[in-house]
Amino acid sequence: MNSSPATVSSSTTLAEAKRRRTFAVISHPDAGKSTLTEALALHARVIGQAGAVHGKAGRRGTVSDWMSMEKERGISISSAALQFSYRDAVINLLDTPGHADFSEDTYRVLSAVDAAVMLVDAAKGLETQTMKLFEVCRHRNIPIITVINKWDRPGQDALALMDEVLGRTGLTPTPLAWPVGEAGDFRGVLDRSDGSYIRFTRTDGGATIAGEERFTASQAAELEGEAWHTAEEESGLLELEGQQHDQDTFLAGKSTPVLFGSAVLNFGVHQLLDVLVDLAPSAEARVDAHGEPRPVDAPFSGFVFKVQAGMDTAHRDRLAFVRVCSGVFERGMIVTQAASKKPFATKYAQQVFGRDREIIDTAYPGDVVGLVNAAALRVGDSLYEAQPVSFPPIPTFAPEHFMVIRAKDSSKYKQFRRGIEQLDHEGVVQVLRSDLRGDQAPVLAAVGPMQFEVAEDRMNNEFNAPVKLERLAFTIARRTTPDWIPTLARERSVEVLSRTDGDLLALFSDRWRLQGVEREHPGIVLEPLVVS
Ligand code: G4P
Repeated sequence: MNSSPATVSSSTTLAEAKRRRTFAVISHPDAGKSTLTEALALHARVIGQAGAVHGKAGRRGTVSDWMSMEKERGISISSAALQFSYRDAVINLLDTPGHADFSEDTYRVLSAVDAAVMLVDAAKGLETQTMKLFEVCRHRNIPIITVINKWDRPGQDALALMDEVLGRTGLTPTPLAWPVGEAGDFRGVLDRSDGSYIRFTRTDGGATIAGEERFTASQAAELEGEAWHTAEEESGLLELEGQQHDQDTFLAGKSTPVLFGSAVLNFGVHQLLDVLVDLAPSAEARVDAHGEPRPVDAPFSGFVFKVQAGMDTAHRDRLAFVRVCSGVFERGMIVTQAASKKPFATKYAQQVFGRDREIIDTAYPGDVVGLVNAAALRVGDSLYEAQPVSFPPIPTFAPEHFMVIRAKDSSKYKQFRRGIEQLDHEGVVQVLRSDLRGDQAPVLAAVGPMQFEVAEDRMNNEFNAPVKLERLAFTIARRTTPDWIPTLARERSVEVLSRTDGDLLALFSDRWRLQGVEREHPGIVLEPLVVS
């Protein structure tokens, strides 16, 4: 009764943080991420009919295609968050770009989640991009839930897929449900928690929620005969191997609960939501740059994991997506930008998914807020209220493609500079500079070449500074120190440039050239740029 407002707000914050489940889907393109996103939203009844989130042929148009390039190529470049309630939980699904060229973007998104869903195509197993993103999750100790998708189509044997997960990720797969019927003959799943049977019924094209009925084991045996017996037998084998769910090893990133589903038919989606609510971690204290956890009920704090411009072509605005780490975000509050110690007014705050935007008034730990007019904010920036905090920087990927960029029209140099600076802040590409090249011809570095296309498109159309790009014959970057610059400068086809984060990068045409330089100069500092 006599509790101060601060105590009330602290307990509310704790309760709200506990309800939050913030996750992303990691997968190889085509595994069904967009379809699953639709299906999840459909189950949570965010949208009336699947297809409103990421439209597919024959369904409603996509809402994440604000860039013409995305439209033309049918890829999703921009990330945002979809928030919905399910049972008593609030689920934040952070969207990640599907194309491997934008994996750096995905990496940033993964810095803002508390769990990941690894979506695997039942026929293809673990593909390259899935493995790459899995490694990122492992680095960050992000608990992973595995979903074997497309079980409605012929695919690999379920036990063989489990062996592959174990063999290639080192995570012990602990299926929570086991498929009844082999891939291509998906009838339902055996619920391994109680041995009952959940039978799925198809609905028209998966556009509405699939029917689910629960039966006892003996009813299942009568209904499904051989397929049920096989499922029971295989589930028994898993039990003998100790492949039962264990919450501690899951949270420690050592085991992964597994579900089987068909995103397109909405099979297994309901189970996935339940697993997220029941097993996935809620928003907990985030560790700051000094290794100190910031309690979730401390005053507001968060960090920018993505900056996006040009989402609304009519307004040419710029949004900074902030993951709330502690406290309550209230629209209108004045927060401090940790790096500059400058105040930032949060007058305009939005929740964004694709083209859909809603004003956000309040947000809690785990939520994502899109701050509008965020010209001063960069990826990795920490924001706080009252008690200062800095969260660890978001490391960058090692670039493998390099291009010199120049303005086509020298009278547009001001626009050119502004555009380059903007793209750099957003992390669309990395920008490298040297005295030799000067400000008029910086080098753009990218993980995937499509990043250059985005940069070029935006320079031409958004910043009104048409550019020329010229490929450089480098493929490897290594971090070096200032004292090695003179040595490296004398080397043929090696160049040293500095990146905005202060790193000095030495660029090499290939690994033979790199090895040659290393042999010639024992002790030279050339560190690989690793994701950490
Ligand atoms: P992505 O975002 O991971 O790239 O994958 P997306 O959802 O776009 O799915 C890729 C293709 O796989 C789509 O087919 C989609 O319909 C299909 N798909 C997704 N989940 C399932 C599933 O559970 N079962 C089956 N059989 N197919 C699935 P498409 O031919 O590219 O498009 P569409 O015209 O069929 O929609």
